[in-house]
Amino acid sequence: MKRLSVEREHFFWNEINEICAKSRMEKSKQFYQHGMTSVYSHSLNVAYESCYLAEKFHLQVDYDALIRGAFLHDYFLYDWHDKGHKHKRPHGFYHPGVALQNAMEDFSLSKIEKDIIKKHMFPLTVAPPACLEAWVVCLADKVCSTRETMQRRKEAVL
Ligand SMILES: [Fe+2]
Ligand SMILES: [Fe+2]
Repeated sequence: MKRLSVEREHFFWNEINEICAKSRMEKSKQFYQHGMTSVYSHSLNVAYESCYLAEKFHLQVDYDALIRGAFLHDYFLYDWHDKGHKHKRPHGFYHPGVALQNAMEDFSLSKIEKDIIKKHMFPLTVAPPACLEAWVVCLADKVCSTRETMQRRKEAVL
């Protein structure tokens, strides 16, 4: 199982708890992302995976911004499967903008954090990430999304 170093693991959960305490993140537990994975769990997976990749490959990143941006990258706060909801479609294209807007309502975000949220769907959204942290989250999101979708298939077959 993938694990961060003890010190970073501690730092990671401090950041996550702080965001949860100051945001509407709790709401994302109600919505599904991929398969049976909630948006909350997916966001947590992506934040952990991003941190893990950065640590494993000794990347020179701002871990504070990396965790915050990754955890908030899908902070759109609606059920994207709900055809009756008024969100802009296609969801894949528009949700980074909604997530960024929501995150900016709850936090004062750094340039790196904004870039992470805005660019995480690249190459679907045309502008590429402008910093290493955003590239890491963009990759971690794809890794986690694939894993969560495969998990669903495996459950369906068994
Ligand atoms: Fe997303
Ligand atoms: Fe995501």
